Amino acid sequence: MVSPDHPRLHTTSPMAKPSVPRNKSSFCLSDSLLFIGGAFFALVLVWSLWSFLTPTTDPSPNLGPLGDSQSKSASGADWLNCGEDSAETTFYDEPELSYSIGKPLENWDEKRKEWLKQHPSFAAGARDRVLLLSGSQPSPCKNPIGDHLLLRFFKNKVDYCRIHGCDVFYNNALLHPKMGSYWAKLPVVRAAMVAHPEAEWIWWVDSDALFTDMEFKLPLERYKDHNLVVHGWAHLIYDDKSWTGLNAGVFLIRNCQWSMDLMEVWASMGPQTPEYKRWGQILRSTFKDKLFPESDDQTGLIYLLYKEKEKWGEKIYLEGEYYFEGYWHEIIGTMDNITERYREMEREEGTLRRRHAEIESEQYGAYRTRCYLKEAGNGRGSWRRPFVTHFTGCQPCSGDHNQMYAGGSCWDGMRRALNFADNQVLRKFGFVHRDRLDSSLSPLPFDFPAAD
Ligand SMILES: *[C@@H]1O[C@H](CO)[C@@H](O)[C@H](O)[C@H]1NC(C)=O
Repeated sequence: MVSPDHPRLHTTSPMAKPSVPRNKSSFCLSDSLLFIGGAFFALVLVWSLWSFLTPTTDPSPNLGPLGDSQSKSASGADWLNCGEDSAETTFYDEPELSYSIGKPLENWDEKRKEWLKQHPSFAAGARDRVLLLSGSQPSPCKNPIGDHLLLRFFKNKVDYCRIHGCDVFYNNALLHPKMGSYWAKLPVVRAAMVAHPEAEWIWWVDSDALFTDMEFKLPLERYKDHNLVVHGWAHLIYDDKSWTGLNAGVFLIRNCQWSMDLMEVWASMGPQTPEYKRWGQILRSTFKDKLFPESDDQTGLIYLLYKEKEKWGEKIYLEGEYYFEGYWHEIIGTMDNITERYREMEREEGTLRRRHAEIESEQYGAYRTRCYLKEAGNGRGSWRRPFVTHFTGCQPCSGDHNQMYAGGSCWDGMRRALNFADNQVLRKFGFVHRDRLDSSLSPLPFDFPAAD
């Protein structure tokens, strides 16, 4: 959940070099038409779905939370009448099934598959379905503005998922009493995998990380042969033996048996085991730049990659091509220029500044990506908005940020990043934060920023 009180310095691999955007208007004219055509088609589709879903007559009264009509639409089952039992049993009916770390779950792939077969209404889109998880501590934050910051970070995740169609589970209880701080996410991921067999991917995003490109979509196709995606760099793990070779604050893990097995092995280095102390020593002696003696989740994962590469490495994708998760200190200073770059694009091209419904955001985002961001690059040195900005070492809740950051730079950085992200959302609601740090709003003029 919360990162340890140590900076996780990122050494980002050099990404595509920055370059000047060319005028793409002519190039994208046909795209523009396609886009309008696509939008029209989508409209027709939504319209017909809408007329299909709108009940013309509904004689049945609402039977409360599990009312008949609701249960039908949610699962395709029509058995949820009082006194009737479900026809088929699922893995949930096995008394020995556990949601907890330390109780290995077997044949998960078959169980999940069987469940999906019994719930065919979830078949469509099952391959790409994502459940986003995040969480924070069970008690109030010590930092007086901590809970407010966490609320804004959480709102940001809800915004992103509303636009891109992922589900969100936010947890603020310790699912395993001994697995606190950075280990607390593992039990949450484990339980969520069982609770959400319809989700193919579980996406953990630390509470102090936020989406700063609301248009960017996870390139899931790229990960089709992998089960775990983390922001990382092979040379830092295998050559430099650095504990910052990857960042475990954001990861995407496939809901499958392989992941169940990995979680068990990974968690076996955690504070709930009698081996915890010994693991601290092993990790520190293997990764010399590790700053503190306790075994931590991030170094543990790097250890697995380093020591058992044949076993795990093949299915772990080290994503270094874009900011799957980016170090805030490297990013904050680039935000003003990026904002200006995007304004230029929008002054140049009417489609990009055209008002539209929030639900159409993905299409407009894809249009910008296709026509205007091809040469923007990704990650360090890029003028594309960074996908995820992670306030590593800032500790918004406790307030005990790392001493290497000057007082205020963490909080100012967060406010800037939150406003930067929020402006992308609020635009669809007709408003904008004019000030980078201030949370006040102004109405957005028509055709902004053409005549700004
Ligand atoms: C922002 O753009 C200005 C003008 O092009 C440039 O001088 C400056 O170095 C850029 N700043 C960053 C952080 O990239």
